This record gives sequence, C-alpha cells and structure tokens, in this order.
Amino acid sequence: MKQEDFITAEVLKEQMRTRILGQNIHYVEEIDSTNVEVKRQAANGADHGLLVIAEQQTMGKGRRGRSWNSPKGTGIWMSLLLKPGQLRPENASMLTLVTALSVADAIREVTGLEAWIKWPNDIVVNGKKVCGILTEMSSEANRIHYIVIGIGINVNTKEFPEEISEIATSLLIEKGTAASRSLLAAKVMEQLEANYELFLQSGDLAYLLKPYNEKLINCNKQVKVVGSNEEITGTAKGINEKGELLVQIEDRLLEVCSGEVSVRGLYGYV
Ligand code: BTN
Repeated sequence: MKQEDFITAEVLKEQMRTRILGQNIHYVEEIDSTNVEVKRQAANGADHGLLVIAEQQTMGKGRRGRSWNSPKGTGIWMSLLLKPGQLRPENASMLTLVTALSVADAIREVTGLEAWIKWPNDIVVNGKKVCGILTEMSSEANRIHYIVIGIGINVNTKEFPEEISEIATSLLIEKGTAASRSLLAAKVMEQLEANYELFLQSGDLAYLLKPYNEKLINCNKQVKVVGSNEEITGTAKGINEKGELLVQIEDRLLEVCSGEVSVRGLYGYV
C-alpha cells in the first residue's frame, strides 16, 4: 500500500477543513459496522458531528437489510452523527440525497472522474456503483433524537465478489490509479458540511436541486419504479424540493418517494 493511502485519525484531522462535521473523529482498525458504532456512541451522549471511520467492517450494513462488503485497506467506511434540532422526522430522508450530492462532488474533485447519482443515493461511475449511503434515524413522533449517515466508498478495491461484480466498481478500477482515501474522506465531509448548511437554510433541497439534478444519471431516461405490489415504467424528470423523483407517465407527473420503491433502468442497474 502506498504511504498516502494510510488512514489515521491524525492525517484525517489535518486534511479535514470543516467547522463541526468530522472534527471529532473516532478511527478504528476493525468494527462490526460504523453505523452501529455511531448509534452506540449516540446512546452514550455523543455530540453532533462525530465521525466514526474504520479500516474494515466485519458486518457492514447495506440498504434493505443487505450486507455491505467492507474489506480492509481499500475503501472508506464511515458514519456521521447528526442532531438536526429543527428537522422533522419525515424530512430526514432528504439528508441521504444531500450526502449523495456531496460524495459525487468530492469524487469529481479528488479523482476527476465523472461521478453520477442514481436516485436517491447510489453513486455511479461508468454505469457501476462506487458508493452506497445508509441513513438511519432514532426519533419519536415529532422529534429526531439523532441521524446516522453511513457512507461506503469503494476507493482502491481491485476486485469484487462474483455476486456483485456486475454492478459494483471502484475508483481505482475506473481511473487506473489509486486515490488517497483520507483526502477523499476529508473532501466528502467538507462538501457535506457546506450542503448541510444550505439544506438547513430552507429545510428542504431547494438550494441543492440544480446541482443534484445535473448529476442525476436517471434524468430523462426510462426507469422502472418497482414497488411492493406494482411496477411502473416512465421517464425520470429530476427531483423536486422534497427529494422525490418526478416520473413522467404519459400525461401524468408522478412524485415517487424513496422509502417506498426502488428505481432501475429498463435494461439493468442504471
Ligand atoms: C447501500 O446499500 O447502498 C448502502 C451501503 C452503506 C454502507 C456504509 S459503509 C459505512 C456505513 N456502515 C455500515 O454498516 N454501512 C454504511
């Protein structure tokens, strides 16, 4: 491994030019899941902005109960604790889109690769997934206790298990050269802090609509919206302020909410 690819709390702190997010870093060699660790620390009173980052996860969690492949020394496996005082629980899922935009921008900045967003929150390079985001929340009826934003980026992964190799890729595979994981993690947090502030100003995605839609790989493409009981085909038209995907079906514009469905391309993953 090249010297520049070592992640340590010291290197991260040095590179992380944020005000609050990630200023308290908890770095571990190995953990079950950084999302689970943030929840444990939140239960013990950890503050807004805590970042847990691991070299390896033994039980990395994906969306919809899937597992997340998190081998040692190759990726960024990190989770952030947010305590957004004024946000209503029903609006918390928008933070996943705020994060997706931040990761896409950071990947572009650090690697020069064209990173796209597959709604709502996968990051895609050359048609394959390089990053997944898992947002979890602890709340009561009208109040959020805390939100955990888990980010997994395949940075210097050389190969993937057969079952995911069709849709998964890494920045190394797509660019041909290794990227600095600590620099990329720092840039993600910088972008996220700036975008999070814009998000809080309006309480929705109004200020982030344009940059998000510009990077939306589904935009103006035929998509299949797959719900629990039905499957609808239409043309994706971008997101609205609430982060819903607008899908044109003949003369109707459907507002699709991310919790309820998954969206695919007609002929594959994107
Ligand atoms: C997805 O299924 O696309 C979401 C994957 C999220 C993976 C990240 S890795 C860091 C954090 N810890 C976890 O256990 N999961 C998230």
